[in-house]
Amino acid sequence: MKNVDMIPVVNLLTSPAWEDYRLLDSGNGRKLEQFGPYRLIRPEAEAVWSPMMDESEWQKASAEFIPSAEENGGHWKVLKKLPESWKIRYRDLTFKAMLSNSKQLGIFPEQACHWDWVTERIRSRKEPVKVLNLFGYTGAISMACGAAGAKVTHLDASKKAVAWAKENQALCRVPLDRIRWILDDALKFVQREARRGSLYEGVILDPPKFGRGPKGEVWEFYKGFPALLEACAGVLSEKADFMLVTAYAVKASSVTLYNALSEVNRKRNGSVSVGEVCNRDDHGRMLSMAVYGRWMANTGEERK
Ligand SMILES: C[S@@+](CC[C@H](N)C(=O)[O-])C[C@H]1O[C@@H](n2cnc3c(N)ncnc32)[C@H](O)[C@@H]1O
Repeated sequence: MKNVDMIPVVNLLTSPAWEDYRLLDSGNGRKLEQFGPYRLIRPEAEAVWSPMMDESEWQKASAEFIPSAEENGGHWKVLKKLPESWKIRYRDLTFKAMLSNSKQLGIFPEQACHWDWVTERIRSRKEPVKVLNLFGYTGAISMACGAAGAKVTHLDASKKAVAWAKENQALCRVPLDRIRWILDDALKFVQREARRGSLYEGVILDPPKFGRGPKGEVWEFYKGFPALLEACAGVLSEKADFMLVTAYAVKASSVTLYNALSEVNRKRNGSVSVGEVCNRDDHGRMLSMAVYGRWMANTGEERK
C-alpha cells in the first residue's frame, strides 16, 4: 500500500433523489421525518441542536416513537390515524413501510445512495454478478441488486425480516429466481460458503452493534467484525467487484472501516472509499446516520 493511500478522505453522502422521504427537521434529540404521506417523530441522539421549524409543524406528526430506558426499547405513540402499512417508492423500487417495535420502518433512507451505487456497479458489468447481502433486514439493497440484474443471496437471522423482504420483492417486481433467502447466522454462513467455495462478485454487510443468530448465536460488532470481514473477503471471486459495509450505532469511525477494508482486500486491484451516510433536511442541515466503507475493483483495463 502506498503511503498516500493511508490518509482517507471522509465523504459525506446524501441521497438527493428521494421523493417519498424527507428529513424535515431535527433537534432536541429528535427528528421529524416524512415517509410518504405520513409525518413521524423518532428519537435521534445525534441531534444535539435546536429544531428549525415551529412546534406547530412537529405537532402535525402522525406518530412518535417514545424511547424507554433500555437501549433501542420503547413504543410508538400514535397521534393521528395511520394505516398498518403503506408504500414508499425510490426510483423504480417500492417498499413496505410500517411502524415496528424497534423504532424502524423497514427502510433506512440514508442508504439510498448505496442502492444507486450497487445498481451502477452491477449494470456496468457485462458478466453476471452474484451478491451476498448479510444482515439483510427488509431487503432494500437486495432489491436494488436484484432489479439491476444480480443474483442475490439475502441473509438474515429473523424470520419476520425475511418475510417482510419477500413482500418487498413482490412490490419491486424482482423476479423470484434473483433472490435466494437464507435464515442463518451471518458469520457461520459466510464461513460455510468459503469452505464450499461458493463465491460472489459483491458482498454487502450492515452489521448491528449487537444481534443474535437464529439459534441464539451472539453477534457483537467489536468482537465479531474482524473475523466476519476476513470471511467476507474469502468469498469474493477472482472477478470481485465490490464490498460495502455500513455500520450504525457503533463508535467505529469511517477510518476504522478504511483500515479494515484495505487490509482484507490488500491483494486485490481496487480502492477503498469511506465516510458517513447522511440525511439532509430542508434547511440544508446534515444528520449523519452511519459510517460506511466501500471497496471497489478497478474497472476497464485495470480490472483483473
Ligand atoms: C440490518 S441490521 C441493523 C442495521 C441497522 N442499520 C441498525 O443498526 O439498526 C439488523 C439485522 O441484522 C439481523 N441480525 C442480527 N444478528 C444477526 C446474526 N448474527 N446473523 C444474521 N443476521 C443478524 C437482524 O435480524 C436485523 O434484521
